[in-house]
Formats: sequence, C-alpha cells, structure tokens
Amino acid sequence: MNVSQAIETRRAVKAFDPGHAMPEDDIRRLTQLAILSPTAFNIQNWLLAWDRDPARYWRNAPNEVREFMVPAIGQYYKGREAVQRDEAMRSCGMAAMTLMLAAQEMGYASCPMDGFDFDAVGRLLNLPPDHTVGLFVAIGKPAREPWPRGGQLALNEVVITDRFA
Ligand SMILES: Cc1cc2nc3c(=O)[nH]c(=O)nc-3n(C[C@H](O)[C@H](O)[C@H](O)COP(=O)(O)O)c2cc1C
Repeated sequence: MNVSQAIETRRAVKAFDPGHAMPEDDIRRLTQLAILSPTAFNIQNWLLAWDRDPARYWRNAPNEVREFMVPAIGQYYKGREAVQRDEAMRSCGMAAMTLMLAAQEMGYASCPMDGFDFDAVGRLLNLPPDHTVGLFVAIGKPAREPWPRGGQLALNEVVITDRFA
C-alpha cells in the first residue's frame, strides 16, 4: 500500500474486534513510525517537555547545529504557555496521522477521538502536571464497516490562494 492508498482508504472506524490482541511487534512498529513524526525544534512533545534537557533532541547533530538549536528552544517557549500547549497539540495531531496511516498499511483500522473526559483520563493515567492529553487514537481490527463518508467540501470552498478575498 502506498501513501495515497492509505490516505484514501483510512476511515474513522467505530467498532473493533474485541477478540483481537495486537502483537507486541505491531505495537512496536507503529510506535517506532509514530516517533518519526515532525515536531518543532525536534522536541518530540508526545512525552518530553521543551525545558527538560533539550540538548538530547540534537545529540546527533553537528556541534554548530546543536549550539544554535538548543538555546533557541528555550528562547522560543519560555514563558509562553499557550505556545507550548499549541505546539504539543500540533505535534500530537501529526503523530496521530502517522499512526493512522501506518495502521492502515498494516491491516488495522483506526479512529481519532476527543469525545472523552480529559480530566478523568488524566487521573487514570496519573498524568504529571506538566503533561496534557492531546487525543486518543483507537487502533484495531475493524468489526463493522464505517459509515459512508459524510462528504468533503469542494476544493474551491476550502482552498484559499495567497489571501482571503
Ligand atoms: C480531533 C478529532 C476528534 C474526533 N473525535 C471522535 C470521537 O470522539 N468519537 C468518534 O467516534 N469519532 C471521532 N472522530 C472521528 C471523526 O468523526 C471522523 O474522522 C470524521 O467523521 C470523518 O470521517 P473519516 O475519518 O472516516 O473520513 C474524531 C476526529 C478527529 C480528527
């Protein structure tokens, strides 16, 4: 399956086979692919904060790149809580899409979700205070066909060239 096929065949599936246990190797493959998703300054927001030893995000880079990038991280995020959160959400969205397309290629179905009680989930996870839940991605073997597509808007309604009229 190529990327276009994964995009075209992926649907939000609402029922999964409860008898299917995902093999550890598949979980590992999915997560290995997900962490290749892009993040601003390579800070990999899905687990790691911008101010926690940021040199590790550039440990394999040439010295001059590391010396430029690592201080830039603090300069960009320090004191800007909304930016920190927005960036985390962008990165979670990117990682979620990677997960869903990879799952599609591997014969799984998926559904992104935010229809849950974020505070209750945080308590279940023992979520540290400097973390936030972005979304769920349910992945499994589909047990029911998805509904027909709701209908995409026409390209000329949603694509703005250069600026709004
Ligand atoms: C951020 C986000 C949150 C969503 N939350 C839910 C959810 O809580 N429950 C659900 O059944 N589907 C949820 N969906 C799936 C959407 O309903 C689905 O993606 C949309 O109807 C388009 O269908 P498609 O993905 O099959 O093209 C969510 C999708 C996104 C992107």
